[in-house]
Amino acid sequence: MEQVLFLITIFLALYSGRCSDVYSRNDFPEGFVFGSALSAFQWEGAVDEDGKMPSIWDTFVHSNAGPTRDIACDGYHRYKEDVRLMYDMGLDAFRLSISWSRLVPSGRGPVNPKGLRFYKNLINEFRRHGIEPHVTLYHNDLPQALEDEYGGWIDRKIIDDFTAFADVCFREFGKEVKFWSTINEPNMLAMGGYDWGFVPPVHCSPPFGMVNCSRGNSSTEPYIALHNMLLAHASTMRLYKQKYKDKQNGSLGITCFAYWMVPLTSSEENKIATQRAKDFYLGWVLHPLVFGDYPDVMKRIVGKRLPSFSKEESDLVKDSFDFLGVIHYTTMYIAHLSHSHHEDYVSDMSVLMSPFGNSTLVKFDVLPWGLEGVLEYIKHNYGNPPVYILENGRPTNHHSSLNDMGRVEYLHAYIAAVLKSVRNGSETRGYFQWSFMDLYEFVNYNYTYGLYHVDFSDPERQRSPKTSAFWYSAFLKGSNVSLQEPKNLPLSFSPGFASQ
Ligand SMILES: *[C@@H]1O[C@H](CO)[C@@H](O)[C@H](O)[C@H]1NC(C)=O
Ligand SMILES: *[C@@H]1O[C@H](CO)[C@@H](O)[C@H](O)[C@H]1NC(C)=O
Ligand SMILES: *[C@@H]1O[C@H](CO)[C@@H](O)[C@H](O)[C@H]1NC(C)=O
Ligand SMILES: *[C@@H]1O[C@H](CO)[C@@H](O)[C@H](O)[C@H]1NC(C)=O
Ligand SMILES: *[C@@H]1O[C@H](CO)[C@@H](O)[C@H](O)[C@H]1NC(C)=O
Ligand SMILES: *[C@@H]1O[C@H](CO)[C@@H](O)[C@H](O)[C@H]1NC(C)=O
Repeated sequence: MEQVLFLITIFLALYSGRCSDVYSRNDFPEGFVFGSALSAFQWEGAVDEDGKMPSIWDTFVHSNAGPTRDIACDGYHRYKEDVRLMYDMGLDAFRLSISWSRLVPSGRGPVNPKGLRFYKNLINEFRRHGIEPHVTLYHNDLPQALEDEYGGWIDRKIIDDFTAFADVCFREFGKEVKFWSTINEPNMLAMGGYDWGFVPPVHCSPPFGMVNCSRGNSSTEPYIALHNMLLAHASTMRLYKQKYKDKQNGSLGITCFAYWMVPLTSSEENKIATQRAKDFYLGWVLHPLVFGDYPDVMKRIVGKRLPSFSKEESDLVKDSFDFLGVIHYTTMYIAHLSHSHHEDYVSDMSVLMSPFGNSTLVKFDVLPWGLEGVLEYIKHNYGNPPVYILENGRPTNHHSSLNDMGRVEYLHAYIAAVLKSVRNGSETRGYFQWSFMDLYEFVNYNYTYGLYHVDFSDPERQRSPKTSAFWYSAFLKGSNVSLQEPKNLPLSFSPGFASQ
């Protein structure tokens, strides 16, 4: 095994950042965790090895132009090396996901012993290195078998199948895993997969789709899919409480994709539109979890197309989380659209969203107050629940320089924003940077977020640390970090290689 020994010099003096304060991790409350993240589909590869069956993403990338993830980062074979890099970096915690169709290949029924062994080994590897695993049960990769059988998330059968899959995970891994998230970004999955149709299962209906969909209904399915995700989540929470929580002493949450949103102008119309957009994006998920029902504005606008909760379901969904996983990248301008002729998720909102500043969406300007806005909004409107920021990061091109100062600037500013929010009373308890290494992203595979560069043309998939990896590691190990006062960063820094 090749050991990468880094001994580097960070010349931050070359860079004139615009973000302010010097801080260190010691400024955060005790117990606050810092981590990084990956997802199974993007990292593991080994797409049809050892009994794994296809997920809807495997099917999707095989039927489209663009890279497959058949090998991806080859994490399935290189996990020990990667956990070692995470340990060397100094991560407290790590967010990973379990591939449903590797563990339970047909979606329900027999467990794949080799899949089981892989996840046991992987979780054990994290534990051996003192890294707390935060496991996401569903990160976009539905077993194709369930999509074929009954249409996946749009059928209520998914609720029992998801709960049964979660049962296997709690039973097999719950002794070692204390932090579970059920579903990754239900709001984006519902919109991308069932309204615009640009991600699997590619459902949409004319004239709404961004692609030509062969099936779906953009007026109704986004709402149905999300409703079933909430019920599957809540059913899983009930199971966890009944069978595992006391014994295993763990906690369970769900994630929500959270743009921050500000009115394009100060007109009353745009302010109202901004609140409406917050209700349609965040409230869609958070309102039922906290209050047991969808926001009034959604019920009014969407009408009968919005599924309703029975009393029993409402009770089940309400308070069905120990923490919220917040996924935040950037901030949007919101403007009111005077009328829309059609009914679908996006036009129901009748808002125009555009990226803040002059950047395109993918450049992600450094707008740390956006993350503060999200955390303050959750604190103020949803009873200040415990929050873990489960994704935050800045993209670059696959082949851009290892000297990714733009990413350092972003992380420095956003972690400072978390600190401000925590100091102002937010119950945020952890921060997970996305992503530990370069991945092919789900939507735009040209962009990567990695702290480590991965050479996808190399059969060995060599990993090389970027400047952001050194910066984050220095921060994790207790250095005062700053962009304006480079003297506070260690000029020469060598991650420890303490043996186990
Ligand atoms: C959908 O299909 C039509 C007819 O084949 C084609 O002209 C159009 O470009 C397609 N649209 C998209 C978004 O792929
Ligand atoms: C979508 O479902 C609604 C409600 O059932 C129905 O009125 C509409 O015709 C459907 N649209 C399509 C494209 O099937
Ligand atoms: C349960 O977990 C909490 C922290 O999550 C810890 O403080 C407590 O000691 C644990 N209790 C047991 C019985 O392990
Ligand atoms: C800080 O918290 C207080 C009380 O919750 C709130 O009124 C105020 O707006 C918050 N400040 C910021 C900058 O978010
Ligand atoms: C990725 O880059 C290629 C080559 O520049 C371009 O053709 C393609 O449209 C880009 N894909 C996306 C999703 O932006
Ligand atoms: C970080 O800065 C604070 C305040 O200036 C100082 O007390 C502390 O010793 C510094 N810590 C390190 C590790 O340099």
